[in-house]
Amino acid sequence: MAYSGGLDTSVILRWLIEEYGCEVVAYCADVGQEEELAGLPEKARATGAVDCVIRDLKEEFVSDYVFPAIQGNAVYEGTYLLGTALARPVIAKHQVEVAKETGCDAIAHGATGKGNDQVRFELTYRAKAPDLTVVAPWRTWDIRSRTDCIEYAKKHKIPVQATAAKPYSIDRNLLHISFEGGILEDPWKAPEEAMFILTSSPEAAPDYSTEIIISFEKGIPVAIDGEKMTGANLLAHLNKIAGQNGVGRVDMVETRFVGIRSRGVYETPGGTLLLVAHRAVESITLDREVMHERDRLSPRFAELIYNGFWFSPEINFLKAAITESQKNVTGDARLKLYKGNILVTGRRSPVSLYSEDLSTFEDDGDAYNQGDATGFIRLQGLRL
Ligand code: ARG
Repeated sequence: MAYSGGLDTSVILRWLIEEYGCEVVAYCADVGQEEELAGLPEKARATGAVDCVIRDLKEEFVSDYVFPAIQGNAVYEGTYLLGTALARPVIAKHQVEVAKETGCDAIAHGATGKGNDQVRFELTYRAKAPDLTVVAPWRTWDIRSRTDCIEYAKKHKIPVQATAAKPYSIDRNLLHISFEGGILEDPWKAPEEAMFILTSSPEAAPDYSTEIIISFEKGIPVAIDGEKMTGANLLAHLNKIAGQNGVGRVDMVETRFVGIRSRGVYETPGGTLLLVAHRAVESITLDREVMHERDRLSPRFAELIYNGFWFSPEINFLKAAITESQKNVTGDARLKLYKGNILVTGRRSPVSLYSEDLSTFEDDGDAYNQGDATGFIRLQGLRL
């Protein structure tokens, strides 16, 4: 079972043992949630697990999930950078591997019956191991609330820290932190400043600007200020710089796959920079027609990611087209960050399509014959 060591998954772990009389292997993925994983195996065993497997998926998450999403400019409903949606398939894919390696015949997760995460976990299970039985306790047991969970934990002597009621449902990884529920359920109520973790408010951000150069190769971010970095390190570095400057907050109401409208607040500092920088490099490296075709695919790409279809034939088809579009997207973008703003101040590329000869307002010699435009426009206007 997908286990985090928190209240819910601790209760599920024990519930599986009680309900099915089975052995349970706990599995935990490190996708950069920054939770203490040190004592996790002991905790899992104390709760009844026969084994606990931890996998570090940070680099794979960033290089195989986050970066392809950036290449495709994947943004759901124009606003959400898909931080949770991108992490679920990599978590579930490895969960299936661990299940097979440890001889499990069923696979379980702690997502509720109302959300997107259940779909993302289970579609990945179906794609990778259609033979495994899926167990989703939140959809079947009679535990209804957090209070029920705490009751159950007490009754079964499950070691959970006595925590104050969590004000929000939080999901964190290297790409983002999401907040849902609690006071956020009223879409008119502004989030309290104390909620934010990765970003400072624009008001508290420095009164001076910060400049940064992000380099891309074939649409993949590879370096910051000339320094090459692994994907996970690069994103962590950007999170810090952007977060300090108050960049990357989003407050939105989105439509879940099941149709429920949901208010979410997100912090995606590094990812927000990457999207802006990527677009800036594309502006001098991507053929116009290719750019516009890719832009038509982006909303559909985002929707497939959001709805949990990361491992599907149709997304492979889109990804192949997006990868092809990025062949020439190599170059640098220079950004200025200031109090929540990202200002593009420059772009350059060894394979730039930009021609100063053509665009100049000065004498271009023989680069372009302005007379050609007369016929060009006359024929465009013919049918009008
Ligand atoms: N609404 C976002 C999404 O569907 C974030 C979900 C966060 N998940 C969670 N269990 N808190 O991708």
